[in-house]
Amino acid sequence: MEKIKVGIIGTGNISNCHIGGYKALSELCEVVACCDIDEEKVKKYAQTHAIKNYYTDFNEMMAKEKLQAVSVCTWNAAHMDAVIAALKAGANVICEKPMAMNETEAIKMKKAAEQSGKLLMVGFVRRFGNDAEILKKFIDEGTMGELYYAKATYLRRNGCPGGWFGDKLYSGGGPLIDLGVHVIDLVRYLAGGPKPISVYGVTYDNLGDNRATGGQSWVSSTKGFDFKYTVEDFASALIRFDNGLTLAVETSFNLNIKKDMGNIELFGTKSGARIDPQIEFFTDINGMFVDVKPYGNTALDFNGLFNREIFHFVDCVRNGTPCKSNADDGVMLMRIIDAIYKSAEMGCEVKIG
Ligand SMILES: NC(=O)c1ccc[n+]([C@@H]2O[C@H](COP(=O)([O-])OP(=O)(O)OC[C@H]3O[C@@H](n4cnc5c(N)ncnc54)[C@H](O)[C@@H]3O)[C@@H](O)[C@H]2O)c1
Repeated sequence: MEKIKVGIIGTGNISNCHIGGYKALSELCEVVACCDIDEEKVKKYAQTHAIKNYYTDFNEMMAKEKLQAVSVCTWNAAHMDAVIAALKAGANVICEKPMAMNETEAIKMKKAAEQSGKLLMVGFVRRFGNDAEILKKFIDEGTMGELYYAKATYLRRNGCPGGWFGDKLYSGGGPLIDLGVHVIDLVRYLAGGPKPISVYGVTYDNLGDNRATGGQSWVSSTKGFDFKYTVEDFASALIRFDNGLTLAVETSFNLNIKKDMGNIELFGTKSGARIDPQIEFFTDINGMFVDVKPYGNTALDFNGLFNREIFHFVDCVRNGTPCKSNADDGVMLMRIIDAIYKSAEMGCEVKIG
């Protein structure tokens, strides 16, 4: 089989993680084109990565290049149009999280994938973490029994990435849609993909944009736009799933907390578990409470994380391997996010049909 030809739409920060994966698989694929609305930026990107052609319009790129695979790495508001254009032109697509601005857009994208017969993968990169892999094996083998409650936190003290991330017109929302999708999806994945049935959510925008310097772990590379800070800075929700699991989630860009936190805790009938700072199980044996730590380093290792996601995408495209992070998962997450924002606005529980 010849190398697959890859294109990248959106050449900001996250595209560097994607291209790293493609380069590491240079015997199987080649990035031959890239596109960004910022001409200087895309030109520099093409030069830096020795990419043959660059464009400022993804429709033109898709018309001129024969691409089998496309990474969509734009800001959230451009995901839908870029994904649909790439699918219509016959390419398989990996789209960054969140899949879209809302569920309506996500459904249109999923339909476009079905009509084209091509793959639409969503970049839920935490599914490819070493911690997720270890924990999922324990859960699938029954170590934890039935999972009935989970807690997921992704809290930053001072961590809006700035620019479009803070402008709802471009992002669709704040920490909930940006960070919350990672941990809500991870819990769904670990728990075997249950469907949401209802949510109760709250959002607050008491603190506003980053109030002090320091502490930002991710900063948008986009310059030259007059973005307005219009998103929530904290969101929390209780999500009920059809298998009896309830998930409590907390996310923030800005919060008066001592230090940033990211953790998943799962509670099952046989044991509980947490992932941070290392995977640890909590249970009882012979009438005594015991805490069990798997041997070795089980903390999430960012080294190679995105490569594993891109390797899986390329494997799906080349070999038809079933995708473990598909459009259905993306739609499901957007359904949950929409319901949380709606619940926060209405001040009551929202049922998901
Ligand atoms: N998986 C992760 O952990 C992770 C981390 C950070 C960001 N992301 C996601 O990656 C995406 C990009 O984030 P980023 O941090 O790289 O942002 P960024 O601001 O650094 O880059 C976004 C780029 O998109 C380009 N763009 C916007 N509209 C476009 C269009 N119509 N055609 C071509 N290019 C267009 C902008 O010009 C900009 O260069 C977002 O969806 C974000 O949620 C994922």
